[in-house]
Amino acid sequence: MKIVFATNNAHKLREVQQTVGDKFEIVSLRECGVVEDIPENEPTLEGNALAKARYIYSRTGLSCFADDTGLEVDALGGEPGVRSARYATDGHDDEANKRLLLERMEGKENRGAQFRTAMALILDGEEYLFEGVVRGKILTKECGNGGFGYDPLFAPEGHSESFAEMSAEEKNAISHRGRAVRKLAEFLNNR
Ligand code: IMP
Repeated sequence: MKIVFATNNAHKLREVQQTVGDKFEIVSLRECGVVEDIPENEPTLEGNALAKARYIYSRTGLSCFADDTGLEVDALGGEPGVRSARYATDGHDDEANKRLLLERMEGKENRGAQFRTAMALILDGEEYLFEGVVRGKILTKECGNGGFGYDPLFAPEGHSESFAEMSAEEKNAISHRGRAVRKLAEFLNNR
């Protein structure tokens, strides 16, 4: 059975296909003919994930899933959260986002934070939500060159190194997205 994942990122597609196994064929947005930008204007991660999945379902009629991720920092009341990509500017400027986060965290003793992924699935017209969370802390300076986004500033619980200092496999085994994808895969494979 074909199922659309709301991305064109080859790396994410391969990773999800490996986790889900061969019972489902994971198809990109482009492959199912959705080439326009999908609006992401909802106030929550769940809202955005569901809105994206509903958009694809209404355009294609195919079963599909979509994710949205945010970094939620305790001392900042959950910011940047749903605005993680556009924290400092309207564009996706990772460098500016990290700088702003460090600035807002200056002098804060509570460095607790979490990455949270909301995953929305529409399967045969029914809607489902899955969540993946990893707790950790915001470092006082950038560490490591791997990963993307806020990775150099986030050390997951039980680890002294940042996500940017881990291999892709190590990160995937504990990350928010890895957890959400494994829940989705388990659900699909138990159908
Ligand atoms: P998206 O929903 O996967 O597009 O993520 C939204 C934003 O959250 C990204 O632009 C990044 O700034 C941040 N983000 C999401 N996942 C990660 C991650 O695994 N590491 C670091 N930053 C992330």
